[in-house]
Amino acid sequence: MNILVVGGGGREHALVMKIHESKKADKIYCVPGNGGISRYAECISDVKATDIDGVLAVAKKVSADLVVVAPDDPLVLGMVDVLNKEGFATFGPNKAAAIIEGSKVFSKDLMKKYNIPTAAYEVFTNAEDAIKYLKERNQYPAVVKADGLALGKGVIIAQNFEEAEDAVKSIMEDKIFGASGSQIVVEEFLTGFEVSVLCFTDGKTIRPMVSSMDHKRALDNDEGLNTGGMGTIAPNPYYTEEIAKECMEKIFIPTVEAMNKENRTFKGCLYFGLMLTPNGAKVIEYNCRFGDPETQVVLPLLDTDIVDIMLAIYNDKLDEVEMKWKNQSAACVVMASGGYPKQYETGLEINGLDDKGQVEGAFVYHAGTKYENEKFLTAGGRVLNVTATGNTLKEALDQSYSCVKKINFKNHHYRNDIGAKALMASDK
Ligand code: AMP
Ligand code: GLY
Repeated sequence: MNILVVGGGGREHALVMKIHESKKADKIYCVPGNGGISRYAECISDVKATDIDGVLAVAKKVSADLVVVAPDDPLVLGMVDVLNKEGFATFGPNKAAAIIEGSKVFSKDLMKKYNIPTAAYEVFTNAEDAIKYLKERNQYPAVVKADGLALGKGVIIAQNFEEAEDAVKSIMEDKIFGASGSQIVVEEFLTGFEVSVLCFTDGKTIRPMVSSMDHKRALDNDEGLNTGGMGTIAPNPYYTEEIAKECMEKIFIPTVEAMNKENRTFKGCLYFGLMLTPNGAKVIEYNCRFGDPETQVVLPLLDTDIVDIMLAIYNDKLDEVEMKWKNQSAACVVMASGGYPKQYETGLEINGLDDKGQVEGAFVYHAGTKYENEKFLTAGGRVLNVTATGNTLKEALDQSYSCVKKINFKNHHYRNDIGAKALMASDK
């Protein structure tokens, strides 16, 4: 089969490498891809992941037998609908279903309507009403969210009224997240441990993957600015079998059924961002796609052909697939450019990688690199996702950090405490 992957980060590199393992994959293409991906797939780097006509033209040119749309924005824009209409098999939800991530107002209203546990909330369409409400409510921290996609940055946790007022004004009046700020959600602040659970679903069957834990802040001890994710571990030791059962009954199945009832059947990877609160698990957010960098620790543990799973979902036959997971742990440490998530330099040479962009003993998923004149250069804020597996979480972490130390580029930085919280909970 000819398989086309849309996207160009560490998540897409992990998908490409997993697809590469499939007996069904003959040739893999990626739009736009990156330096590391180019060693495993033919990259069409002049077409953007959001360019629906461009991706359709590539799918036709390479006679794609399956198109995997990985990032949120092309899914929310309806890339899958256009590809299906032209007869291409796809992996990823259509536009009607991708709204579960594309609009926070939609997802909160869905959860309220179908009694799916989540933080209490109010929706506002003008700044004045939101500010009045925050003043009267006077409960902090308060969580202010822009309705639409905002590159994962549309959430502001305000510690007092001044910060909350600033958040509302900057989202609704200064439009710091663009049009996605025309409506906002103000919600209750939840406490507990966060868990990410990615699920395969065809709208009838739902199969959770191994749970994981992201580390969003730039610096050790969860300090510094929010980032796209500085590291992940899987499985998440706080997500016990008992909690998994509760989530299946109260959250996963009800969400899939709710989407069916709304005529928005979800097919693809449905991501549940959960908070394990003292009152049970609650949904913080839904994503309509694989998480980044969760995918980088989840897929190395998958022991079933991913192309079989994707085709089964496309054909509504996920119930026929037996899914196997390695009884191991995985850890991913993100090597970022100095300065990230603020200003950073690019074009710096990366040393320590072999000609495939790898180091022995790890999967080095490239998030922001270019391959030029047989050298890998930095090309983004998050540069490399160094992932290792092991029989215990400790083993996976030690191996990942030892591989990180073999790689070098000027001013790189990474967190030294990925998995530290998880190790405290894990008896391994
Ligand atoms: P999101 O973009 O929705 O993933 O939110 C980013 C991060 O903000 C989440 O991973 C949480 O750590 C935090 N967050 C979002 N909503 C809440 C909430 N209601 N209570 C506490 N933390 C939250
Ligand atoms: N890691 C969070 C996300 O993919 O949105």
